[in-house]
Amino acid sequence: MSKSIAGFSKLSKSKKIDWIVDTYFSNAESAKGILKQYWNTNEKLQQLHDEFIENTITNYYLPLGVAPNFLINDTLYTIPMAIEESSVVAAASKAAKFWLDRGGFKTTVISTTKIGQVHFTYKGDFDKLKAFFNAIKPKLIDDTKSITANMEKRGGGILDIELRNKTTEIANYYQLHASFETLDAMGANFINSCLEQFAKTFKSEARDFDLFSEEEKEIDIVMSILSNYVPDCLVRAEVSCNVDELFENPAVSGKAFAEKFVQAVHIAEKEPYRAVTHNKGIMNGIDAVVLATGNDFRAVEACVHAYASRNGQYSSLTHAEIDGDIFKFWIEIPLALGTVGGLTSLHPLVKLALELLHKPSAKELMQIVAVAGLAQNFAALRSLTTTGIQQGHMKMHLMNILNQFGATDTEKKALTAHFKNNTVTHSAVVEALQNLRNGA
Ligand code: MEV
Repeated sequence: MSKSIAGFSKLSKSKKIDWIVDTYFSNAESAKGILKQYWNTNEKLQQLHDEFIENTITNYYLPLGVAPNFLINDTLYTIPMAIEESSVVAAASKAAKFWLDRGGFKTTVISTTKIGQVHFTYKGDFDKLKAFFNAIKPKLIDDTKSITANMEKRGGGILDIELRNKTTEIANYYQLHASFETLDAMGANFINSCLEQFAKTFKSEARDFDLFSEEEKEIDIVMSILSNYVPDCLVRAEVSCNVDELFENPAVSGKAFAEKFVQAVHIAEKEPYRAVTHNKGIMNGIDAVVLATGNDFRAVEACVHAYASRNGQYSSLTHAEIDGDIFKFWIEIPLALGTVGGLTSLHPLVKLALELLHKPSAKELMQIVAVAGLAQNFAALRSLTTTGIQQGHMKMHLMNILNQFGATDTEKKALTAHFKNNTVTHSAVVEALQNLRNGA
């Protein structure tokens, strides 16, 4: 039976652990042992991790893998990927190699605008609100000077602020809808600080605006927050080749493969049940790089799926066509990423991942991440439309099952050989391992 606790956050780490293991675990010592196993013996590094969040009791590891041979705009990259799902890194590497021999990936950043909003209510005449907004817009921008000075020096800052009337949707509801250029920063802190200053200035200036009645002077700020929806922070990645170059398997011509592949993409464009799984595969690649480079994968996920629904129905993020003899496959995706600030200068593995990627700008990282998504989708569709997904998946899964049953290196070797010609299922692996152990 669990119980509540007061003042948990004030306890020391070891007291927190004591309470957790004593309250929730039948074998407190064993639970403590597992938590300890994942601590880093380097005290400074452990402290760094402890302080990323609150109430830390240990570290939660994900594997960091790399996918080499990505040729992007004629530069070669080895892409770091933090992910727990087997097959993802192998699939990315395979797709990278495939396109390395066919000219590689071509990418362009289409736009880099980020958005933030001050949501407020105002009970009064809209024309007066408009006049007030136009009168104080320069002051709204001026009052943020101490926040924006550095960003402006580097060429970024506030791009514009608009007043938006949303009263047809919610009574008395308006927005200050602001756009920003945040350069190599993801920009969340910068944008939120600007917005909170806009809100302060807006509310206090309203009290002195002569045209407003007493009621109109009482503007109520509901909240000030960036939007993670960034449809104007867009990147495009593309691969293309002659359909004949897609030839890999004597049984299927390049043209037949291309046609089936394009059909699979069209299905994901039209059918939401398929689109969700199709896009999930894309996010396997995207999230893994976003995570490895210390970026906010929840923000990216939320945005990407809103973008996938922008035309009123959830749809594929990738597109494909055959134009004459040319097969073309591309993705256009919004990505708000940073290569400075946040975890990028704090987490040693994030720093390492960024160095591995030639210390990219945020724009370069957008292109690399989009490529990881496109490559992942290419690999998935190639398997799905040819051999099926399970063949590759289960081979990778084999190792997970063997690890789960504590297989030795010799057992792993023997069973990997065995399953080269046998179908991998959970029960088949368990049975084969038992047979091996029983000397059968
Ligand atoms: C599995 O994590 C991802 C796939 O299901 C993606 C897809 O179906 O396109 C293989």
